[in-house]
Amino acid sequence: MFKSKISGIGKHVPENVITNFDLEKMMDTSNEWIIERTGIRERRFVTQPTGAADLALPACLNAIQNAEIQNTDIDLIIVATTTPEHSFPGTSSFLQALLGLPGVPTLDIRVQCSGFIYGLSIADQFIKTGQYRNILLVGVEVQSVGLNLTTEGRDTAVLFGDGAGAVIVSRSEDESQIYSTHLFGDGRFAKELWIDAPICDRSPRITQEMIAEGRIYPKMNGRQVFKHAITRFPEVIKLALDANSISMNDIALVIPHQANQRITEAVAQRLEISPEKVYSNIHRYGNTTGASIPLAMYDALSEKRFKKGDRIILAAFGSGFTWASALIKW
Ligand code: UT7
Repeated sequence: MFKSKISGIGKHVPENVITNFDLEKMMDTSNEWIIERTGIRERRFVTQPTGAADLALPACLNAIQNAEIQNTDIDLIIVATTTPEHSFPGTSSFLQALLGLPGVPTLDIRVQCSGFIYGLSIADQFIKTGQYRNILLVGVEVQSVGLNLTTEGRDTAVLFGDGAGAVIVSRSEDESQIYSTHLFGDGRFAKELWIDAPICDRSPRITQEMIAEGRIYPKMNGRQVFKHAITRFPEVIKLALDANSISMNDIALVIPHQANQRITEAVAQRLEISPEKVYSNIHRYGNTTGASIPLAMYDALSEKRFKKGDRIILAAFGSGFTWASALIKW
């Protein structure tokens, strides 16, 4: 068995900044309400038309450069996204074409906010067995074009933003490594945070009625999501520690999926760790679903919140419900 590590990281967000004050002009909401309930001050929205692969490309090129490899060294492309440009094929096919890598296998994974850690786990297995040496994993979301930016959709519209974060997962020949990943799901809660239509079990898959009823927009039982998130996050973080027989004192930083600042604070409280040990950049980007963990890793690294040789924990919870964690030595 070989060891795997993250050998490069990259990020890309749209230039277009949407503040809470901009949202106030579109719907009945307020800067105060959004900050108090979510911690979000601004997010990025693409200028249309931009697909997930378009947004992912600069982040991927950034990660490839950071890993000091060439495009042609990539053995597999994994994309974690909730917002692919088409029903099929997956975003990874479009991205592969943009990267100019015909023949390289492509894989989309659809586990929403947990997508990046699921992807990391898949990449980890392929590297460990020796099948591949360098895997491109990108979390990317173009969510803004699918939000109901009116008062009717305000409970979800104020939360989400666009962005992309990419990593290269490679065979490790030094101390850096992915120690463990743990993945979970519970489909009994699939409709607590979802988009109903288009519906693929009938024809036509989408009707004027579905559009008029707003079934094309995300629907969320916010309290139910909140309740489960603050239980599952600490649980899966503790599991990462226990599985590696280490304590929170051995961890430089916990990087959770940026769901909501109140969730992040509740997680720190339940784990009895100082808020400084749990990274947050949600004020800048909102909830970027599959992109949030690599974006947070990138920013935390730039801010010197962890360095080579440090142990970090990644953790996610989201739609599905799905949840996951990873323990990494950077
Ligand atoms: O990756 C997972 C993604 N999801 C999450 O992380 C969400 C988890 N859930 C939450 O963080 C919270 O449930 C929310 C932030 C979404 C909502 O906070 P809440 O304290 O649960 O509010 P609520 O849904 O109970 O709504 C309270 C009030 C309602 O008005 P009334 O009925 O009390 O008059 C809502 O209509 O706030 C109203 N409201 C808003 N007001 C201003 C809902 N959305 C907004 C809004 N602006 N954007």
